[in-house]
Amino acid sequence: MQRRRFLKAAAGLGGSILWMPGNHAHAAHDSYFSRLNAMLKEQGPGHPVMLIDIDRMNHNIDAIAGSVGKEKTYRAVVKSLPSVDLLRHVMSRAKTQALMVFHQPFLNAVADNFPDADALLGKPMPVAAAYTFYRKLGKTRFNAAEQVQWLVDTEERIDQYGKMARELGVDLRLNLEIDVGLRRGGFADHEAFARALAQIEGHERLSLSGLMGYEPHLTRYEASLDHAEVQKVLTTYRGYVEQVNATGYDASQLTLNGAGSNTIRIYEKDRLMNDLSAGSGVVMPTDFDTYHLSANKPAVFIAAPILKRYDKNPFFPEPTPDMERVYYIYGGYWKARMVSPPKIAEHVYQSTNQSPVGTSKDVDLAVDDYMFLRPTQSEFVMLQFGDLLAVQDGRIVDRWPVFHQTG
Ligand SMILES: Cc1ncc(COP(=O)(O)O)c(C=O)c1O
Repeated sequence: MQRRRFLKAAAGLGGSILWMPGNHAHAAHDSYFSRLNAMLKEQGPGHPVMLIDIDRMNHNIDAIAGSVGKEKTYRAVVKSLPSVDLLRHVMSRAKTQALMVFHQPFLNAVADNFPDADALLGKPMPVAAAYTFYRKLGKTRFNAAEQVQWLVDTEERIDQYGKMARELGVDLRLNLEIDVGLRRGGFADHEAFARALAQIEGHERLSLSGLMGYEPHLTRYEASLDHAEVQKVLTTYRGYVEQVNATGYDASQLTLNGAGSNTIRIYEKDRLMNDLSAGSGVVMPTDFDTYHLSANKPAVFIAAPILKRYDKNPFFPEPTPDMERVYYIYGGYWKARMVSPPKIAEHVYQSTNQSPVGTSKDVDLAVDDYMFLRPTQSEFVMLQFGDLLAVQDGRIVDRWPVFHQTG
């Protein structure tokens, strides 16, 4: 009854309602978040911010790069780490120049800022986006003919890219997307794949740079190399590699890309793919609290100032224990989950302007203290807060601008 009345009140406030009662016994911040809270009260801008913990991130980068090993290429996923400075940090620590890019404006930013990068597209771009890339390509040492691998998934797209190559007078490296079981497009049979290889071979401005076979569906199996589903992926992938070799290439000299943060560790003892991608596992949003990443540490947080505090729930005379107190935070409705204070009644309702957060009486925070959330994903959410605040030893040590969605 009470809840229904509250929900009605909340609906009247125009927020979207999500009711997920937690349970009792809450504390406020632990020592880690208390330190961040003190730092932000002293140095923060007073609005919601996105923090990156450098030490935790370094731990994650080392884990990923170590798992990939020296024999293979670690490819950093740009959409999951959408900031030039953040990428520069990751690339320098992991000693890689390989990037996977999913958005034309980001590709132009890569060309402008990373003149030595090798940029593999992670999804096939409409040829119009490839034209836009060339139109916007500024004066840079980055040589697109050598340093971009355009992902293509159909004979039609190869045709379109072939026409563009002739029209612009540019050479293009094409990487063929193969379907290794995800069913998200890509070449799915050997006849079409053979025609694609012939198309590329027959075009004076096109060359084959490699294969890309993504397999995030393996995440759910918590699988190691000998798992049947992993073997299915590898057998399918190997079939295309053999076909490439049989056509006269040396596939070991090409980019044989696969994996993502959630699956990368599966391949520590396998050599079929020589190029493995990961982005999110570097910063660890909550969607990546998965089997193979259990040793990685959450390194990215939204910090939102508390604007208002109700000592007694203003909506119910007898609230549940996790709703005794209500705080309003600055902003909200992000793709994120509250991490500190822990076990709040998340969320009373959500508003992008100011969101109420129900807690127990044990959560004793003041107006101007911060609450901390973990994004569920890093792409897009990381673009919503302006500069990322890089944090180390309890201090903001750097401000890293994020990519622009347009341009
Ligand atoms: C083709 C491809 N490779 C790799 C990734 C992995 O990115 P992350 O490590 O951030 O999950 C993705 C994510 O969408 C992808 O689409």
